[in-house]
Amino acid sequence: MSKLIIANWKMNGSVEQIERDVSIYAKCIYTNNPSVILALPNIYLYIASQIKNKLGAKFSLAAQDVSEFINYGAYTGEISATMLKELGTKYLIIGHSERRAYLNETEDSLVNKIDNALNEKITPVFCIGESKSIRENGKYINFLDNQLRILLQVKSSFDKLVIAYEPIWAIGTGVVPNGEQICEVLKLIKAFVQNYLPHAKITALYGGSVSGVNAYEILNLPEVDGVLVGGASLKPDDFISICTY
Ligand code: PGA
Repeated sequence: MSKLIIANWKMNGSVEQIERDVSIYAKCIYTNNPSVILALPNIYLYIASQIKNKLGAKFSLAAQDVSEFINYGAYTGEISATMLKELGTKYLIIGHSERRAYLNETEDSLVNKIDNALNEKITPVFCIGESKSIRENGKYINFLDNQLRILLQVKSSFDKLVIAYEPIWAIGTGVVPNGEQICEVLKLIKAFVQNYLPHAKITALYGGSVSGVNAYEILNLPEVDGVLVGGASLKPDDFISICTY
């Protein structure tokens, strides 16, 4: 199975950058692959899907968030899973720590977002991760287990799920947990899914300061099924080198 490599552009990019980078990735043997996923700002997904279709490219598209409300309606400013689906969105990042912190995402809204994605057959990429202080006081296993329990409230049926472990202390800091620390949490994630959601095929990712320099080592750890890449995904050379693992 090829590992999933997700580029999380966050709130970055421009029409010019999308046109340039999407064309580069469509022509590159390492990135023109359905397991390479570009999570772009929603406003650029249409342009990216047009270029993708024109070039017959095989990489996948993801959104970075979705409305907790369903389909269509009087929810000014919101974008539904139905709309994202129409643009060719295959994956949806849900519960990124930046959104939990700055947009006050609640457990209920995360459950609704996962349900909305699943109803449109979009695969959720559910993010979990502890802060530095929780890691240091040793309570991170309990904290992460509680974050995973949100999945037990999801009403829709699903047979596959992507969960990304993104320790907050590693995001954008250049600090990366060691292999043992990454594998400990990814094992916890897999055991949780096996115990409570045995019908689902789990793909467990690591995210946080993944770069062209450390990706090979991370992607070759036994529990790692892929990576979620922030900063390095904005530089095509770095991103392509991550995809050559
Ligand atoms: P980073 O971000 O690679 O810049 O640390 C990862 C993420 O937040 O998904």
